Amino acid sequence: MNKKIKKAIFPAGGLGTRFLPATKASPKEMLPIVDKPMIQYAIEEAIACNIEEFIIITGKYKRAIEDHFDSAYELEENLRKLDKKKLLEEITRLNHINFAYIRQKAALGLGHAILCAKPFVDNEPFAVLLSDDVIDPEETLLKDMIRLYEKLGCSILALEQVPMTEIHKYGVIAGTASGNGLYKINDLIEKPEREKAPSNLAIIGRYILTPEIFGILEKLTPGRGGEIQLTDALRDLLKGQTIYGYHFRGKRYDAGDKLGYLKATVNFALKNKEVSEAFIKYLLDIAPTLKTKGHR
Ligand code: G1P
Repeated sequence: MNKKIKKAIFPAGGLGTRFLPATKASPKEMLPIVDKPMIQYAIEEAIACNIEEFIIITGKYKRAIEDHFDSAYELEENLRKLDKKKLLEEITRLNHINFAYIRQKAALGLGHAILCAKPFVDNEPFAVLLSDDVIDPEETLLKDMIRLYEKLGCSILALEQVPMTEIHKYGVIAGTASGNGLYKINDLIEKPEREKAPSNLAIIGRYILTPEIFGILEKLTPGRGGEIQLTDALRDLLKGQTIYGYHFRGKRYDAGDKLGYLKATVNFALKNKEVSEAFIKYLLDIAPTLKTKGHR
């Protein structure tokens, strides 16, 4: 029997340079999409997959994340007095969850962030969720990946087909299709130039990893951008273990990028009961003015 996936790591130590100045003193992971910070969507996705332990890798200027997931006694008391039941329910919904925080002392890359969680993970497989890859809450990507892990017993990476003009932003795989969206991975490369990309299958921010990755990360030298790259560690892992990729065809937003963030905001607002009707009306109102400005 393969071990159950009980732990998830949420790297959140990055600098968020693409959102400066908003992220000068506050974490990118706390940027709201409608009314919830980005990282909460990833946490809720993991909760829906019965993850029991939540390990957040933080860094400088990231304390707001810890405060956000802490109970807020005074605020709760005030809402109780004012009989604001719905809001109270909303802010206490995650109070029972146990979070562990580890500070990544320098932003040395995704691989380094994951290595920081080693003392909390022991010798078991775990999930990694990158919160700026926002997956539509109606999708079941992580659940499907966990099921695949339970069947195959090896690391599973989420893949998406991306246009070749975007390929340099991702880890990219070479793989052999083996049916039902699965690819047996033969090679991986971090952020290749378009000409050197082995395919248009990019790794997106959901991983199920076997614990052998830690030993590899410990010995890894910096790669692309001078950072310890998870993709490079996975390439080494391939020498001793099979890795599968799972082709996700659902809705994902690259909310680490301004345009992707705006798309996520618009689409989540369209589904939000409180604002959707008025928001659609507003969009329809401004649509003709967008056309006259020459946009289509
Ligand atoms: C990271 C990984 C990359 C992966 C991407 C998914 O890059 O290094 O392999 O494709 O996440 O979002 P980042 O976006 O942090 O630069």
